[in-house]
Amino acid sequence: MNILGIETSCDETAVAVVADDDGRPVIRVNLVQSQLAEHAPYGGVVPEIAARAHLDHLDRLIRAALDEANLGFADLDGIAASAGPGLIGGLIVGTMAAKGIAWAAQKPFVAVNHLEAHALTARLTDGIEFPYLLLLISGGHSQLLACEGIGRYRQLGTTLDDAAGEAFDKSAKLLGLPQPGGPAIAAAAQRGDPRRFALPRPLQGREGCDLSFSGLKTAVRQAAGTVDPDDEQAVADLAAAVEFTICDHLADRTARAVRWFRDRYPRGTSLVAAGGVAANARLRTWLGALAEEHGLRFVVPPPALCTDNGAMIAWAGLERLLLGLADPLDAPVRPRWPLDPDATGPKVPR
Ligand code: KG4
Ligand code: ZN
Repeated sequence: MNILGIETSCDETAVAVVADDDGRPVIRVNLVQSQLAEHAPYGGVVPEIAARAHLDHLDRLIRAALDEANLGFADLDGIAASAGPGLIGGLIVGTMAAKGIAWAAQKPFVAVNHLEAHALTARLTDGIEFPYLLLLISGGHSQLLACEGIGRYRQLGTTLDDAAGEAFDKSAKLLGLPQPGGPAIAAAAQRGDPRRFALPRPLQGREGCDLSFSGLKTAVRQAAGTVDPDDEQAVADLAAAVEFTICDHLADRTARAVRWFRDRYPRGTSLVAAGGVAANARLRTWLGALAEEHGLRFVVPPPALCTDNGAMIAWAGLERLLLGLADPLDAPVRPRWPLDPDATGPKVPR
């Protein structure tokens, strides 16, 4: 089976082909065109610019991916596209391209939930079985989810305000560091002392697995106001404190989720981290130790598959097609599309 995957939900235009080679998944090609340069002058992603950039890049990327995999449309067994959640303009560009190919080549179409694609990536890379606990932390999302099966997720916690990646990105801006902020803060933090600035740990002692970053942002703004931007050591020290505090908060909330998950899912085997923030080395070390302490395997897909990519969309499409879960060509895009339909928002699991 060869599945084409198209990702256009935010600011990466990405196309991949994933094949099922006798039950063994193979990423045949995985192309990502970042729009960082297009959005850089505005200090954040501009939805209209993103949609136009997807339109500019997508056809060429699809052509290049198929050429590289040495496939034509007729050789595909399905076309999957991110149909939400995300920026509506980009979602429309990607799904319309996918539907057009599916219609012309008479192949099944799959409307993939972008969050499910992040959630299933560890099955592509490490073949892990359900159920598992997922910490999904990106520029747009921060959630803890019990993954029970394809289409079956239980939300244990979500952010009350900003996403974890946003916390890194906004802090970097306050410190005069470049975007994306996560890698910039991590690099500066290596030369810094996290104890010089005392930042408050969010939701200290609070029940449940929800996350929050807005109070931290205020504290970083205040601390940054006392720092001379030319004082490299002070910037590094504050970056180290930011990284330490975000990782500490994520590890604390994940620890609560792990205990809950261990009680509810005795057959659960793994703790999985996904999304761009999972690329953070300090966080990986801490979560690895946490998983080990609770007898869970810790799985993090490689960085290129943690950040937005087409392979995860193709893989989610493949998993769904194997279960007969194709979608009609009038399937809508869904700018909001929670993985757990029963989750009304932040809540405390009992
Ligand atoms: O998953 P992703 O590529 O895109 C979204 O769907 O949002 O995540 C991007 C986010 C950005 O906020 C970026 O600053 C963060 O992931 N990030 C990191 C690291 N690498 C990327 N955050 C912390 N440490 C990193 N090494
Ligand atoms: Zn994402």
